Amino acid sequence: MALIKWTTELSVNISSIDEQHKILINMINEFYEKISEKSNNELISNLITKMKDYTILHFSVEEKLFEQYNYADFEQHKKQHDGFIKKVSDLEERFNKGEIILSFEITKFLKDWLINHIQGTDKKYTKFFIEKGIS
Ligand SMILES: [Fe+2]
Ligand SMILES: [Fe+2]
Repeated sequence: MALIKWTTELSVNISSIDEQHKILINMINEFYEKISEKSNNELISNLITKMKDYTILHFSVEEKLFEQYNYADFEQHKKQHDGFIKKVSDLEERFNKGEIILSFEITKFLKDWLINHIQGTDKKYTKFFIEKGIS
């Protein structure tokens, strides 16, 4: 699995949101590096928590904008966010209990989810948000 490189293909054309997506991508890359280096569990555990917390923050920024501007796809979009947070929280919990080992497969899941979500779901709000003057 290669590291994720942010390219304009991942841009939602709203710079404040692109910046947050870049931070999330960097976190997944860091996670991938730590797993490759076989870093200790405590460090990996802290990184999952950091990633989960930032993901929650980022989703809440998007959702606040959806609510504020009455975005029609709000419910559908939020469902995807909630599902992902649940999955990451579950990974965190199972890892901390020693039930799972974090693998490239898990990193690939995080990577694929984020890329698909940005390209398939987040990008749908670009036109709407730009019309509302969000940048
Ligand atoms: Fe997003
Ligand atoms: Fe989103």
